[in-house]
Amino acid sequence: MTALRVGIVGFGGYTPARVMTNEEWAEHVDTSDEWITSRTGIKRRRVAAPDETTVDLAEAAARAALEDAGLGVEDLDEIVIATDTPEVYTPDTGAFLQHRLGAREVPTYDLGGSGCAGFVLALDIGMARAAQKAGRRILVVGVELLTRLMNWKDRTTCVLFGDAAGAVVIGESDTAVELLATTAGTDGSRAGILARLSGGTREPFTLESAQRGDHLKIEFNGREVFREAVKRMGQASREVLDQVGRKAEDLALVIPHQANKRIIDAIAKSLGLTDQQMYVNIEEFGNTGSASVPLALAQARAQGRIQAGDLVLLTAFGAGFHWAAALLRF
Ligand SMILES: CC(C)(COP(=O)(O)OP(=O)(O)OC[C@H]1O[C@@H](n2cnc3c(N)ncnc32)[C@H](O)[C@@H]1OP(=O)(O)O)[C@@H](O)C(=O)NCCC(=O)NCCS
Repeated sequence: MTALRVGIVGFGGYTPARVMTNEEWAEHVDTSDEWITSRTGIKRRRVAAPDETTVDLAEAAARAALEDAGLGVEDLDEIVIATDTPEVYTPDTGAFLQHRLGAREVPTYDLGGSGCAGFVLALDIGMARAAQKAGRRILVVGVELLTRLMNWKDRTTCVLFGDAAGAVVIGESDTAVELLATTAGTDGSRAGILARLSGGTREPFTLESAQRGDHLKIEFNGREVFREAVKRMGQASREVLDQVGRKAEDLALVIPHQANKRIIDAIAKSLGLTDQQMYVNIEEFGNTGSASVPLALAQARAQGRIQAGDLVLLTAFGAGFHWAAALLRF
């Protein structure tokens, strides 16, 4: 009998039903399908229904991952959620999800503020926690409902984002997807370049700030974020490959954070990867923050893009700046 190993045993994703096209955005702000497509590769994104909140998206992805794993909610020992668009400010979205799922009174944690890098960081933490104690099963969710918390009149940001959730269940099995290597880093000197600054102790909410719409404002220097994203996702990818003595050509698939098709192409070029090695779904879903990598992972697997034995690299970059990469063996 093959020995049990710790790893990912279930994958799930969820996207809201409503599809919003670039043409629809052109009715709200001064933009065009041509501009959005040529600058970002995005054609459509999903928008949560008015009665959907973060926990609804998270629940749908979590249930899909549990079903894929052949496990029930009672089997979960911990829940970790990466999100920058939480259900409420306090308590964490994990608490809402624990109750919604009907899970046991297990610990939950939110990883907030690391933007689009959140899920890969949460996966690393979840894997380490699972390896600490035999039999521990951990749900890791990346979820974002960005369209609710952005300024629909700011064309420089609103056209980029979409709503989604993705999840994995970590546990033990003889076919579990192993985590071979991880890396992560932070450059806090650039914290203001991609940020939501209002609502904390530095700039508490006031009537005036609410009237200005500061709570919906995303500080954003697109060009600088672009450059850093290419550099850091490339660097993190090389680091995990080096850790295990592998090369880019050994990778069956790379699942990069889906922020911009041009960023993905630049990473592929810098690592010497072919188009076939890159998983891209940005055309359909836009940038879904910390949901982007787990959603793409679940879709790539469901579409048969990943086979047993494959090496798959996840790489992500987000506010902070934070970046991370993980190398998986299926
Ligand atoms: C945002 C991004 C697509 C912009 O692409 P870009 O080629 O760098 O475009 P620029 O910032 O140079 O802007 C070019 C012009 O388009 C305009 N523009 C911005 N958004 C626009 C829109 N939705 N429609 C039409 N024009 C737009 C700008 O105002 C600017 O006009 P100007 O030259 O008259 O000032 C790109 O920088 C990017 O993808 N950055 C990183 C992605 C990211 O940060 N995602 C979020 C977090 S991970």
